[in-house]
Amino acid sequence: MLNFTFQNSTRIHFGDDQIKAISKEIPLDAKVLVTYGGGSIKSNGVYDQVVAALSKHNWVEFSGIEPNPTYDQLIKALDVINEHDVDYILAVGGGSVVDGSKFIAAAAVFEGDDPWDILSKGASVTKALPLGAVLTLPATGSESNGGAVIMRDGSKLSFGSPLVRPTFAILDPAVSLSLSDRQISNGVVDAFVHIMEQYMTYSINAKVQDRFSEGLLLTLIEEGPKALKPETKDDLDVRGNIMWSATMALNGLIGAGVPHDWASHMIGHELTAAHGIDHARSLSIVLPAVMKVLREDKRSKLLQYAERIWNITVADEDEKIDQAIAKTEAFFKAMEVPTTLTDVGITAGDIDNLIEKLEKHGMVVLGERKNITLEVSRKILETAL
Ligand code: NZQ
Ligand code: ZN
Repeated sequence: MLNFTFQNSTRIHFGDDQIKAISKEIPLDAKVLVTYGGGSIKSNGVYDQVVAALSKHNWVEFSGIEPNPTYDQLIKALDVINEHDVDYILAVGGGSVVDGSKFIAAAAVFEGDDPWDILSKGASVTKALPLGAVLTLPATGSESNGGAVIMRDGSKLSFGSPLVRPTFAILDPAVSLSLSDRQISNGVVDAFVHIMEQYMTYSINAKVQDRFSEGLLLTLIEEGPKALKPETKDDLDVRGNIMWSATMALNGLIGAGVPHDWASHMIGHELTAAHGIDHARSLSIVLPAVMKVLREDKRSKLLQYAERIWNITVADEDEKIDQAIAKTEAFFKAMEVPTTLTDVGITAGDIDNLIEKLEKHGMVVLGERKNITLEVSRKILETAL
């Protein structure tokens, strides 16, 4: 196992009716900015629950944070913050709202010239407003991690700081009942790939991390399809197991002390930025191709994954790996997401542009061995056609 330091300071309030915990989490003398997206929280009752919980607080709101949140929209929140002396942010929504709110929290008190430098130049975040989250879409893990991904001018850039990790997060599985099938699928698949990015690397005998990861993968494989089936989709246990898996997938626990990949995410971000593919759908296209192209580098883990996740017992190792990759693709298909570039109308002629964007964004050596050069990324995209 590699050396690591692990701390996750986000207090989680999980379960039915937990939104009311906001009233005790946020100090009564705080001036709160409630941030949200395009309005789903108004039609599913979440907004009303938040308003009720904040009945004794002084608060204002900022809405319109888009899926794949943009700098241009987020920066407008600073006017509201300055006008109302806001000193606490409450994000109510999916990963985009939580990510966007992290950027707002850091930008509001940024000490340099231009908050964009946080994303474009990696300027360090030395202060941030405190942030709480009411999660409405289990997927990204953003509710209890310090990372955020922001779009500007066709580029999707990320930053991370422990200062923007939410101080608390409300996980009420019932709020996910209003999600469309597409967003349910996206959430399950995003969480699945987060686990794979931290697990499907090479073996270093990190048994705890491996077995936590395998438990989460098995849970998503078992529960994900149930959230799409009419007979089981409203089952709160199904929703709860998915929600907690997605949080655990990217809260730092399974990734402590192990190598990380993240190539699928970095290549996937270019598919989202250039072609508007939903984040999770970019991953369901790229991950199988990464497994195929890097099969020798990932051999020991692919074999472990084949045996422990898919119970594949054929003796021939290559056959075992082929079957494990096929099972992964079948799972994605069962979750109704695309598994090839062709599925989403992207052709061989689009690959040059994607490679140029990877180069522009400095994504020239990816993967756990830093051997996914632009040439290898090209091979991955060609394999994904
Ligand atoms: O904007 P509203 O009206 O709220 O609608 C949203 C949005 O249209 C809707 N939605 C959310 N909760 C709902 C709901 N609709 C009905 N009922 C509910 N309960 O769903 C749509 C998508 O929301 P979004 O927040 O964009 O989805 P997701 O949570 O998948 O977040 C994706 C973003 O997170 C980033 C991605 O790059 C992408 O920008 N990621 C952040 C990570 C992190 N911070 O650690 C890691 C991830 O890998 C990912 O990159
Ligand atoms: Zn993701």
